[in-house]
Amino acid sequence: MKTLFINIKKLIQVEDNARKWLAGKEMANLSFIENAFLLIEDEFIKDFGPMTEIPDFNEDETIVEVDVSGRMILPSFCDSHTHLVYSGSREIEYVDKIKGLSYEEIAKRGGGILNSSNRLHIASEEELYQNAMERIREIANFGTGAVEIKSGYGLSTEDELKMLRVIKKLKETTPLEIKATFLGAHAVPANYKGRQYEYVDLVINEMIPKVAEEKLADYIDVFCDKGFFTVDETDRILKAGEKHGLTGKIHANELDYSGGIQVGVKYNALSVDHLEFVGDTEIESLLKSNTMPTILPGAAFFLNMPLSPVRKMMDAGLPIALASDYNPGSSPSGNMKFIMSLGCINYKMTPEEVINATTINSAYAMGIEKTHGSICRGKVANLYVTTEIDNYEFIPYAYTSNLIEKVMLRGEFI
Ligand code: NIG
Ligand code: FE
Repeated sequence: MKTLFINIKKLIQVEDNARKWLAGKEMANLSFIENAFLLIEDEFIKDFGPMTEIPDFNEDETIVEVDVSGRMILPSFCDSHTHLVYSGSREIEYVDKIKGLSYEEIAKRGGGILNSSNRLHIASEEELYQNAMERIREIANFGTGAVEIKSGYGLSTEDELKMLRVIKKLKETTPLEIKATFLGAHAVPANYKGRQYEYVDLVINEMIPKVAEEKLADYIDVFCDKGFFTVDETDRILKAGEKHGLTGKIHANELDYSGGIQVGVKYNALSVDHLEFVGDTEIESLLKSNTMPTILPGAAFFLNMPLSPVRKMMDAGLPIALASDYNPGSSPSGNMKFIMSLGCINYKMTPEEVINATTINSAYAMGIEKTHGSICRGKVANLYVTTEIDNYEFIPYAYTSNLIEKVMLRGEFI
């Protein structure tokens, strides 16, 4: 089965060879072809180029031709950090926040992650699956073609496995590319209050081996921050993960200079995420690593947090990825187009930089840069067609308009 897009006003984020990531000054470059064609065969990108170089086809070949005059095509977003399996929303805490309580104060009162954990405990696997599936459909229509999903609302062996099984079922039943991350060390559950050390032991000695044995996770995460897990605990957990083949993707430096970045780098983490608190030492450590610094502009926006020094990091030569952090407490949205707008407005990133940060770089941050994140021959055909627009800069500029007309995942329109 072949699909041929013709008259594409701009075919954006094209590359002949899949790059690892774009760092520093390179992030300002976005390659595109004007007046282009794009050929899809089965679930892969077969060919592309200017309309003047369109190949000849045999007359008996069945090709579906799609004329997209006036429209642009971009690779689907890769959302490399979400918690989109959860039960129930937390708008009451949202009101508490409006009235002045901080994220940490809400957590101390048994709200926050523990509130979601109680609700997850009583929800059935099927209910969790159906709710998550609705969110997946929503983000697919917003242009996301790959998503990482974390556990971390279970906080007991049984419930963590329950969450990961839901993610596994999502993997098997949606056309999106999904990666699963085990986040047992998201918070200390109420029944371990005052016994954090023992909970960490449980994560290491019971949860990680079971998760690995059932092959339920691709990566491992720890919330390494003030009031949550220490650097020593994170070190122990990442070491145990490494032993079981789980690479780190960790929550770090959201609430303080937690040391999370350095311990992540020590274990060759794929990404360190949040990064509101980053200074020269953290930048130095990242520069010597293969770890993708990932910013979650939705969480900083929703919680009114200080902004990560993104420009300083890029000026130092670092790559940056952006992700949604879709979760009920700090970022109840998985709209990556809005994340791009926040990147531009709050972090002063250019449209080219935010497109790179939500495609090639975020693909790297979830370990799929060889198959996703750009328009490249042989990569999976995950893309979206815009409405009629004059410039791609219009996409992050029109920050609440859904400018997506068609979505293709694995070579098929959804
Ligand atoms: O990435 N920071 C830690 N975890 C999530 C929030 C989870 C929640 O509040 O439910 C985050 O922001
Ligand atoms: Fe998160």
